[in-house]
Amino acid sequence: MLKMIKGNSLLLGVIIFSSINSFCFAQVVAPNGMVVSSNAVASKVGVDILKKGGNAIDAAVATAFALAVTHPTAGNIGGGGFLVFMPDSGEVTTIDFREKAPLAATPTMFLDDKGKLPKNNNHEGLKTVGVPGTVAGLYLAHQKYGKLNWADLVQPAVDLAKNGFIIPKGLFKEASKLLAAEDTNQFIQNYFKNSESKITPIGKIWKQAALAKTLEAIRDKGKDGFYKGEIAREIADFMQKNRGIITMKDLESYTAIERKPIKGKYKEFDIYSMPPPSSGGVALVEMMNMMELANLDSIPFNSAEYLHLLAEVMRRAYADRAEYLGDPDFNLEMPLDKLTSKEFAKMRFRNLNKNKASISDSSAFGHPYDGNNTTHFSVADKDGNAVSLTYTLEYAYGSRLGDEKLGFIFNNEMGDFNPVPGITNRKGQIGTSPNLIAPEKRMLSSMTPTIVSKNRKPYLIIGSPGGRTIINTVFQTVVNVLEYEMPIDKAIEAMKIHHQWLPDEIVFEKNLMSPKSRKDLEKMGHKTKAVNNLGSLMGITYDEKLKVFIGASDTSSPDGGAVGY
Ligand code: GLY
Repeated sequence: MLKMIKGNSLLLGVIIFSSINSFCFAQVVAPNGMVVSSNAVASKVGVDILKKGGNAIDAAVATAFALAVTHPTAGNIGGGGFLVFMPDSGEVTTIDFREKAPLAATPTMFLDDKGKLPKNNNHEGLKTVGVPGTVAGLYLAHQKYGKLNWADLVQPAVDLAKNGFIIPKGLFKEASKLLAAEDTNQFIQNYFKNSESKITPIGKIWKQAALAKTLEAIRDKGKDGFYKGEIAREIADFMQKNRGIITMKDLESYTAIERKPIKGKYKEFDIYSMPPPSSGGVALVEMMNMMELANLDSIPFNSAEYLHLLAEVMRRAYADRAEYLGDPDFNLEMPLDKLTSKEFAKMRFRNLNKNKASISDSSAFGHPYDGNNTTHFSVADKDGNAVSLTYTLEYAYGSRLGDEKLGFIFNNEMGDFNPVPGITNRKGQIGTSPNLIAPEKRMLSSMTPTIVSKNRKPYLIIGSPGGRTIINTVFQTVVNVLEYEMPIDKAIEAMKIHHQWLPDEIVFEKNLMSPKSRKDLEKMGHKTKAVNNLGSLMGITYDEKLKVFIGASDTSSPDGGAVGY
């Protein structure tokens, strides 16, 4: 309901309840274009760009910079991410702007003298900062595919930082929690301050003068405004003074890379998603291929039998993720075609027992949970261009460290590398070689920005935050829309489960699984674990008959919003 009121004041388009399906989640419907992100103000920035004649790439660039101001938990210029672009004609493409390990990084840099990993050592402190990629990625996307002037796309973010914006409920709650934590550092304490109080109160204007200045340099000088000159010098000096390892040379040599997407097919739909260094696209397509082999007509949706099937499909894809995937520039032999082929899915599906859990062999591979804070947004324009973009600082507020003169937060993405070479265990630590640390290497990601097309037109644009759970929440939402023809809001809100091979357990959203299903799953041999929430999906579908975009933001994202026109 909140979102409907919010949408109503922002939209020219029609807003409807999805009451036809007896659900009270809100959909936003608009004929000309749409942006769905985890902050409604940033979504509106993107739609304003579309209204000015910008295309989906222009809107994505403006939305990403706006989120760096209004959604600092994950919106960023100090992190990295991935963008999938479907142009109205021509090939689908992707931009990889994942962070890179600094030149001084080594495979054992987070271990102590005894070769052990001290708790959180790969997620705390400035050594955990990867060379940021966001500005380079947005710049490359704009240079190749944008229409409007770069400066006009950065300006709305400058305005939001300089003039401020009203602190929304979700951000206020997060900030309060962060400040209440015992180990809150000085940077974070000063970050949320305004002139009267240590945290800008809910409903009051929050200004970020230092960030505005950094954004002005990016506005005026493009990519070089960040990676060369004064800002780069300040970053390097700050790192050197505080035992970080990023240098001017690291910044100058950072490049975003355009890569061919991972492509899959499910029935009449084409699926495009992110290739390595994200594992998202490969695992998603592998799982969709296995789902096509299941006789879904005979399995009731969300029954224990169905959830068992999902978990077994997930287990297999995550095992392959662990064994094979890493930065493609360092792993030249990754069998991507094989992993995403229908034949391979048949082979993986063959030993799937309909009634009994398999066992994840911890003598081989495994994975810990990631930090669950990343952000995704989806964009569609009137000409049929679509963008699916997920970017991150790794943890919420990344390293929680930054330079007050620059006003932005550094990522702690180095924690996404396998930290202990050769050590893989049942708890989920993994030490396989494709994702060990090396200078200038990109850490393996789970981000899964995805576009599904039908008859070469965008049909579903989707993605989510959530660390290693991302692939599975996107997977289930894609299945919900393509297989069960659910409207986007219902597909997003439906219960999600997560299995990542190791630890060997089904994680599920509390209160959404019936006690009977849980018991039945346990009888089949699964361990189960309840969590509050999995993912925060931001999606757009296109209704061919009505010729409208329909968007929804996950209700777990309190400040999120779909905005269209
Ligand atoms: N930091 C989350 C991911 O890249 O998967």
